[in-house]
Amino acid sequence: MRITFAPLEGITGYIYRNTYQEYYGGIDRYYSPFLVTRDRGIMKKKELRDILPENNLNIDLVPQLLTNKTENFLQAAAQLKELGYREINLNLGCPSGTVVSKGRGAGFLDQPEKLQSFLEEIFQKADYAISIKTRIGMYEPEEFHRLLAIYNEYPIRELIIHPRTRQEFYKEKIHPEIFKYAYEHSKNPITFNGEIRSLQAVTALEKEYPAMKNIMIGRGLIAKPGFIMQAADGSLTENRTRSKKRLKEFLDCLLEEYRKVMSADIHALFKMKEIWIYMAPYFTNYEKYLKKIKKTDKLMEYRASVSSLMTNEDIIE
Ligand SMILES: Cc1cc2nc3c(=O)[nH]c(=O)nc-3n(C[C@H](O)[C@H](O)[C@H](O)COP(=O)(O)O)c2cc1C
Repeated sequence: MRITFAPLEGITGYIYRNTYQEYYGGIDRYYSPFLVTRDRGIMKKKELRDILPENNLNIDLVPQLLTNKTENFLQAAAQLKELGYREINLNLGCPSGTVVSKGRGAGFLDQPEKLQSFLEEIFQKADYAISIKTRIGMYEPEEFHRLLAIYNEYPIRELIIHPRTRQEFYKEKIHPEIFKYAYEHSKNPITFNGEIRSLQAVTALEKEYPAMKNIMIGRGLIAKPGFIMQAADGSLTENRTRSKKRLKEFLDCLLEEYRKVMSADIHALFKMKEIWIYMAPYFTNYEKYLKKIKKTDKLMEYRASVSSLMTNEDIIE
């Protein structure tokens, strides 16, 4: 089983990906957070910077596009191909209101006919592989039956399934029965994504879906960096370097890397606060430290709070 790092917009940009790879590694592939395509070509400078090959030297990266217009997809994909990418991922899962209201991301799932003609055209014209990251529907899990019938008509390199509807955002229970249906009926390789936070959870997935080659993990890796890695012999283990000491080094480096590219320390601090929201609950008695981390806009205070959390508390397994 191979491990891929899910895209998290605002979090897993190239600085995070590179720093993670350097301090933990054990990830087979990373996906870029979505790139919004615009008429007449690709994205903003900031988005382009995230996927430039020189900013992603030591990792295997698949860029992700968010669009419902064939022209925009094809133009952006051509630009990505020029940069050397051989696979493009299509985002059919983003649940955010502004994205869905424009019929993109999970919003596209609500227009199966339009989705089908979109896929028809891009698969006809593409000379690169296309993978898809999808939710199971807009409102009801059962919508996935029709969606899978559509997906089955195209040679999708990998169908990554987050088994929740758009309405269920990131918190509701996932639908293992729908994933099982996909496992049994998909003509394309499928990947499970959602709520994987322990080695045991992965072992259970391996047992239940022996033919599945990949799993994708997002928030679990942000919350517990290194909790899983692929070893050189292909086995999945906890990262040997996972410890408070390593975490401290990883976070110090991450902060410095953000400071190098951001116009003010407060922006770098904002990035760190965002990941602490995921990480802190995996420490004993974390509440008071997290409160301080969230409140401060001073680097010194931030460092002091992190340092006392690391000294006084333990990582919970
Ligand atoms: C803050 C945040 C940003 C996300 N950004 C993206 C994105 O850019 N593209 C995408 O396909 N999914 C995005 N996702 C969804 C994740 O990739 C993933 O599917 C979801 O978090 C479920 O997996 P997990 O439980 O392992 O985190 C995002 C999720 C979160 C919480």
